[in-house]
Amino acid sequence: MPENNSPPVLEVRHVGKQFQSVRALDDVSLGILAGEVLAVLGENGAGKSTLMKILAGVQSPSTGEIFVDGQLVVFANVEQALQAGISLIHQELNLASNLSVGANIFLGREPRRFGLIDNCRIERDATKYLEMVGLDVSPRTIVGRLSIGKQQLVEIAKALSTQARVLIMDEPTSSLSQHETETLFGVVKNLRAQGVSVIYISHRLREVEELADRVVVLRDGCFVGQILRDEIRHDAMVSMMVGRDVSKFYHRTAHSTGDEVLRVEQLRTPAYPAHAISFSVRAGEIVGVAGLVGAGRSELLTTLFGVTPAVGGSMKTESLARPPRTAREAIEAGIVLVPEDRRLAGLVLGMSVKQNLSLATLRREMRGGFLNREAENRVCEEMTQQLRIKSAGGDQIVQVLSGGNQQKVVLGKWLATEPRLLLMDEPTRGIDVGAKEEIYRLMHELAGRGVAIVFVSSEMEEIFGLSDRALVMHEGRIAGGLDRAEISEDAVMQLATGTGRTPAKC
Ligand SMILES: Nc1ncnc2c1ncn2[C@@H]1O[C@H](COP(=O)(O)OP(=O)(O)OP(=O)(O)O)[C@@H](O)[C@H]1O
Ligand SMILES: [Mg+2]
Repeated sequence: MPENNSPPVLEVRHVGKQFQSVRALDDVSLGILAGEVLAVLGENGAGKSTLMKILAGVQSPSTGEIFVDGQLVVFANVEQALQAGISLIHQELNLASNLSVGANIFLGREPRRFGLIDNCRIERDATKYLEMVGLDVSPRTIVGRLSIGKQQLVEIAKALSTQARVLIMDEPTSSLSQHETETLFGVVKNLRAQGVSVIYISHRLREVEELADRVVVLRDGCFVGQILRDEIRHDAMVSMMVGRDVSKFYHRTAHSTGDEVLRVEQLRTPAYPAHAISFSVRAGEIVGVAGLVGAGRSELLTTLFGVTPAVGGSMKTESLARPPRTAREAIEAGIVLVPEDRRLAGLVLGMSVKQNLSLATLRREMRGGFLNREAENRVCEEMTQQLRIKSAGGDQIVQVLSGGNQQKVVLGKWLATEPRLLLMDEPTRGIDVGAKEEIYRLMHELAGRGVAIVFVSSEMEEIFGLSDRALVMHEGRIAGGLDRAEISEDAVMQLATGTGRTPAKC
């Protein structure tokens, strides 16, 4: 438990950070005590990651000072922060994907024996940290072969191996399964019991309620206030963060659906070639795909979109008589996919917000061989407004946007194509609570205009709140379908774990 009379283990005073025209942080002061779990909250672009990068020596502040145990420090680089006991788990994965898990964990700090890298020790020690985070893979596995969730666990194991006194976790659970999340909570609680301080950033407020001893809130780069343990409640956090009222959760009202837009029969994906999938979706219908991580949900979407072409079965849309073999074929048939990992599949990081937003519509907007600048500007303006994208303007390079704002750009790019079938994989991953509502509203609006939506989500609330129908996957199969009235956490979990009833309405 926090010791209140010793100085903060880590403290910032009057820290500011300016990026050209953007003031990312403005006069922020805060400290963290030994054994305290401090949650830092704020909307997308509020300055959370920037503050963490400053604490971990990744960036230096434009103004202000950092103190460790009451002593002024200046971190010239990450190594110096590590030596002071501060370790950061980045929001975006930061691993060398062609190296093994063990090599990544000890990268730059390899234990040596007689001057040579001691691979036996790397394996032994890595195994210990992998066990702590509940990751059952060999330290020799190449990182690039692991799912994003597992890579995230490797990042966490790596941070644990630094024996930090202050561990900073920037959205550690955004790609973890429920089970992995629970293991991580166990790790955090253990660290706290050992006197380690944890700074925890998450848009999932339930996690914050469970873990945090104290919450501090940033808005537009400024410190707006803090909430102590006993007062940490969902509504208090939201109103401090957003500065306006946000309804607790968007609830979709039922409305009529149209003709069948998609029919899939005996479809087999390369990930689970032995398992056949059949279901259909109507215009204006929102279908939520639930299931545990690894159940084949993302693979189903990428197969419908043609990036991992089907190995068997049929798929029919108005203009397609078989499963698409390429994404281009799918896009031409009015099918688009908002992917799970924006960095890999959704964005061109070196291009501007405006260019990214109009990437998928470019072909349509060409006039006489020239890009229609007017159309490009219009798409940018519309999407920036609808999705509340926070940037310094349409010409800003996407790479420097905050994580959540990058996700909004991916979404905007695909929405601008006005699809007939919208596939979304974890559409609100890393999105703040206010903007989530906007995305839900938008999905509802699109459905109202006749767009069919199939979305994958690990957040049960999302499956409840948005779906007309839920399909629950288990080990590559659709274990069952649930009508709106039948969707409950229990029913979904039973099907997802393979203990539910036999396949029903799909
Ligand atoms: N290298 C950079 N160059 C220019 N602007 C930047 C840079 N890094 C961050 N910013 C800007 O600083 C602001 C704060 O970004 P930051 O990543 O800290 O937000 P965040 O609170 O972590 O948001 P999220 O919840 O979306 O992750 C944003 O407006 C972002 O675009
Ligand atoms: Mg961030």
